[in-house]
Amino acid sequence: MTKNNTVEVKRHSVLYRLLHWAIVLEVLLLLLSGFGVSEYLHLSLFTRSAGRSLHLVLGFAWMGTITFFLYYFIVSGEYKWFGVSRIGYSIDFFMHEVKTFVAGEKVHSPVKYDAQKKRYVEKIVPTEVVAWWGWFVLWIMMVLTGLALVFPSTFDIVNRFCHAIVPSLGAQAAATRLVHIFVSVFMVIFAIIHAYASWIFGMVGSMFSGVKRENTGLPEEQQ
Ligand code: HEM
Ligand code: HEM
Repeated sequence: MTKNNTVEVKRHSVLYRLLHWAIVLEVLLLLLSGFGVSEYLHLSLFTRSAGRSLHLVLGFAWMGTITFFLYYFIVSGEYKWFGVSRIGYSIDFFMHEVKTFVAGEKVHSPVKYDAQKKRYVEKIVPTEVVAWWGWFVLWIMMVLTGLALVFPSTFDIVNRFCHAIVPSLGAQAAATRLVHIFVSVFMVIFAIIHAYASWIFGMVGSMFSGVKRENTGLPEEQQ
């Protein structure tokens, strides 16, 4: 039903929402079990062997979930809003957001839905493109360093690369652990910014219910 230039739209499928929240839960548990076995932080939530086993099981489950999420992201067509060609547009919009914020004004979301054609004209706030690629890079780093800790000889190149970044640490595995924990802390900061931005643009509800009222960009008599 259209109301005040807006229409209620199905924004996210059940599967997309389930995968998103499964990833959030898994990352949370990976952080808890990871910090529980950390050599740098002494958060003794579990015995070391229980924490390590839990972390490994969750690590493999999480890799399966993100692989399926990426597959679904592409086959469902969601990817088209996040493609590489939109990164420049996303950075420009981010600069616009910063300037608007400094000027104390409100950022207007370009999200628009064509109620007649029943499809989005623009589905996302452009900054989401950079955020999505940010997640992708962080996930790849966590997967590669995690696998290098489990299979050091197979992923020797990752261990050597981490050692080249942190040469002051004697053992290669110690350097990999440091990069693994550093990226995981960075992921926490990234998740907080992501959650805050989703909330500011009023998107959190639709990640639970799947529906959202979207702007049609048209005066009511033309809808
Ligand atoms: C979002 C994903 C992940 C997060 C947030 C995470 C977090 C952590 C943290 C905080 C540590 C402790 C590092 C230290 O201070 O020593 C750790 C250790 C470790 N992680 Fe992960 N991790 C993730 C994914 C993975 C994956 C996918 C694997 C491999 C399948 C993995 C394998 C390991 C291993 C083997 C250790 C060392 C455990 C030990 O020997 O004590 N992690 N992780
Ligand atoms: C480890 C934590 C998280 C990860 C890895 C994660 C990952 C993602 C990814 C990859 C997307 C799709 C790309 C995008 O639209 O930006 C997404 C969308 C979204 N996330 Fe998260 N997320 C996390 C935590 C959260 C939290 C805590 C919230 C809310 C409180 C949240 C709310 C949302 C919303 C609302 C969307 C959809 C935005 C839209 O409708 O366009 N996420 N998330």
